[in-house]
Amino acid sequence: MSEGVGAERDRPFRVGVLGHGTVGSAFRELIEQRADAIAAEVGVRPEISGVLTRSRGDFADILERSDLVVELIGGIEPAREYALATLAAGRHFVTANKQLVSSHGEELFEAAAEQGVQLRFEAAVAGVVPAIRVIGETLAAAHIERVYGIVNGTTNFILTAMQRTGASYEEALREAQELGYAEADPTEDVTGKDAAAKMAILARLAFGTPVHVDDVPHEGIERVTAEDIAYARELGLSLKLIGSAERIDGGLSVEVYPAFLYAGHPLAAVNGSYNAVTIESPAITEITLSGPGAGGSQTASAVLGDVISAMIPPPFTPSPAEHLPLVTDRESAFYMHVEVADDPGVLAQVAEILGLQGVSIESVVQKGIGDDARLAMVMHPVLESKFRAAVDLIGRLDFVRSTPRVIRVIAETFE
Ligand SMILES: NC(=O)c1ccc[n+]([C@@H]2O[C@H](COP(=O)([O-])OP(=O)(O)OC[C@H]3O[C@@H](n4cnc5c(N)ncnc54)[C@H](OP(=O)(O)O)[C@@H]3O)[C@@H](O)[C@H]2O)c1
Repeated sequence: MSEGVGAERDRPFRVGVLGHGTVGSAFRELIEQRADAIAAEVGVRPEISGVLTRSRGDFADILERSDLVVELIGGIEPAREYALATLAAGRHFVTANKQLVSSHGEELFEAAAEQGVQLRFEAAVAGVVPAIRVIGETLAAAHIERVYGIVNGTTNFILTAMQRTGASYEEALREAQELGYAEADPTEDVTGKDAAAKMAILARLAFGTPVHVDDVPHEGIERVTAEDIAYARELGLSLKLIGSAERIDGGLSVEVYPAFLYAGHPLAAVNGSYNAVTIESPAITEITLSGPGAGGSQTASAVLGDVISAMIPPPFTPSPAEHLPLVTDRESAFYMHVEVADDPGVLAQVAEILGLQGVSIESVVQKGIGDDARLAMVMHPVLESKFRAAVDLIGRLDFVRSTPRVIRVIAETFE
């Protein structure tokens, strides 16, 4: 080895770490373990220049001594303030913070572009699954039509447990909390808000249109019952919380909702806390990426990947904004569950109301329960507003005993 190469390998790349919790401490360990291998590969050695928590370290001092700052605190403030200060100082910034990027992404992109430094956030979406890199870099030349998938491991764990054991939502949530897959306060996950933040980020990258997390309608899994899952199994369906971003009629639809999938769908096989993202483009057909959606060491690995990318130019710049209008009414197939009086003609009346709104029924399961009956139906794809109008009318019929429950069905089948 020549002296010059040895000297280059020892050139330090100073990384300041904000936050030293689950991911921050795993990141610090990983960088220490991998520094020699990275130096040999890249020619530059990453080293920790300082660590900040609420009780330790000083941000201004760490920034001063860093080439790049990694933010692993979470939430909006002070993460946003630290991000803007880092970028303004001409240092690269890497974060795993979906709240920050999905609500202040434009401000951060602009600040990074102004200074010609890198802003990377692979770990903010789907943990170690490299969705950001594939959309932003590998597929930078592709015209993406749709990005969708399972981007929340907590809800996928709960739904998988309900399907495997017949457990109620509450029982499956308790199991997820005991095993560390759900937080003590699971609201962000189970309401779909966490997935909405991730879809806002994926949509921004895939379609070049700024999407704020508050622009993403989201429905969670709290109202899913063991009964819905059991009926759906009879119809050959399994339930997933789906995040979807798609070009529709010259606009962009970004949403999060529980949906039934037929058994052959690639996402139907993604179980437990795993995440998966499918990207569709005419040029590439489709790519599905799947893997662990969280975990300290997994997330730290994605963060370190971003740090290494920032050590090597050219800088990553997000595609220019397209400003597609956001679309909120779109076609989908639906499942509906409703309790009705077990009288002749009831099914015919329900079918008539659906028919008047242009909704056609694909399959029905009907079961008697004493004087009442339960109907579980799957409809062919229809514009959501028409289906919701029919459900509203059905809910008001005299013989209807419960508020109809509605869940989308992804009607595509893969042979
Ligand atoms: N955990 C995962 O599997 C995972 C997966 C993907 C993405 N992420 C993202 O990674 C980030 C970190 O998550 P985490 O699970 O590692 O969180 P965590 O375990 O709660 O750690 C947060 C860290 O930030 C520090 N901190 C909190 N407020 C601070 C402040 N005002 N100033 C300075 N430090 C502060 C905390 O230290 P003190 O309390 O001692 O101050 C702690 O060290 C979040 O954005 C999260 O969404 C996590």
